[in-house]
Amino acid sequence: MDDLRDKYLGQVMAAVDEAALEQVRLAAIGKKGEVALKMRELGRMTPEERQQVGPRLNALKNEIGSAIAARKAALEDAALDARLRSEWLDVTLPTRARRQGTIHPVSQVTEEVTAIFADMGFAVAEGPQIETDWYNFDALNIPGHHPARAEMDTFYMARAEGDDRPPHVLRTHTSPVQIRSMEATGAPTRVICPGRVYRADYDQTHTPMFHQVEGMAIDRDISMANLKWCLEEFCRAFFELDGIELRFRASHFPFTEPSAEVDIRCSWEGGTLRLGEGDDWLEILGSGMIHPHVLRSGGIDPDEWQGFAFGMGIDRIAMLKYGIPDLRAFFDSDLRWLRHYGFGALAAPTRHAG
Ligand code: DAH
Repeated sequence: MDDLRDKYLGQVMAAVDEAALEQVRLAAIGKKGEVALKMRELGRMTPEERQQVGPRLNALKNEIGSAIAARKAALEDAALDARLRSEWLDVTLPTRARRQGTIHPVSQVTEEVTAIFADMGFAVAEGPQIETDWYNFDALNIPGHHPARAEMDTFYMARAEGDDRPPHVLRTHTSPVQIRSMEATGAPTRVICPGRVYRADYDQTHTPMFHQVEGMAIDRDISMANLKWCLEEFCRAFFELDGIELRFRASHFPFTEPSAEVDIRCSWEGGTLRLGEGDDWLEILGSGMIHPHVLRSGGIDPDEWQGFAFGMGIDRIAMLKYGIPDLRAFFDSDLRWLRHYGFGALAAPTRHAG
């Protein structure tokens, strides 16, 4: 028995990988292994012999089993150490110059929009991208049966089986942040809310994720005239053109009353888009006076307060300002595209630049 013990413990220590270790296990304590064969001999022994040899065989089996387990753990540790050594990365090394990126147009334009509205006293508010359907729809005066819900090509999150609560949604617009910031600060307030939004749609001018900026101003006597001035002021600063002309066209949104879509004067002559001249109009945003139901959803008394709101596509105004033709390329992570359309880190926008 001592010979068996020395032989197999030696083999266990000599095994260089898990496969070799398994071979040793089978040969020693497997069903047809040497220890099992010895156990079978117990049947032919006298009861006295069996009482002596049986426990010793069992102890031997356990000892070999433990040695195998210990060796296995040691081999695994060694393998992990080797892997950690070979996959080690020095994250403090500088990037190679030819791989350096630039500021993405979406980031740049978000900064530009933020800077311009900051000059007009608007703070920045944010909300979650995974939203309850109350914030995304109901609170904005879009009840369950409203066609706007179907039109928005909403992405719904899965609920656990048997959970009957309405599913969360990937927010379809930044408008739910209106409600969240009304709840957070009450009135009066002036915020813009830039961020990602999601709709199941994909072609040259639609991607399933895109960016919007919401604007909202609430006070005792805010009017449509204030809305108009703010948006004109914004467009002049943003497009860096004094000759910008806007057209407010009556429209309908569930969350505003009255509602207006805003178009910008442009020309497509010679196949290139020029803003501020020509006889065409290009829609750039939706807006209106915040509906009393919406103010009430945000905990604000519509008999005391009123306000305007607007929502605008950040990617869309980036395309217009910088002449970028295909929206899908925004999200391809192609460095050649980024080097062409991107911005240097020091191109900080301000309303006073021009
Ligand atoms: N939430 C609208 C959309 O995604 C845009 C919008 C329209 C926002 C009018 C507003 C508004 O705040 O007043 O299409």
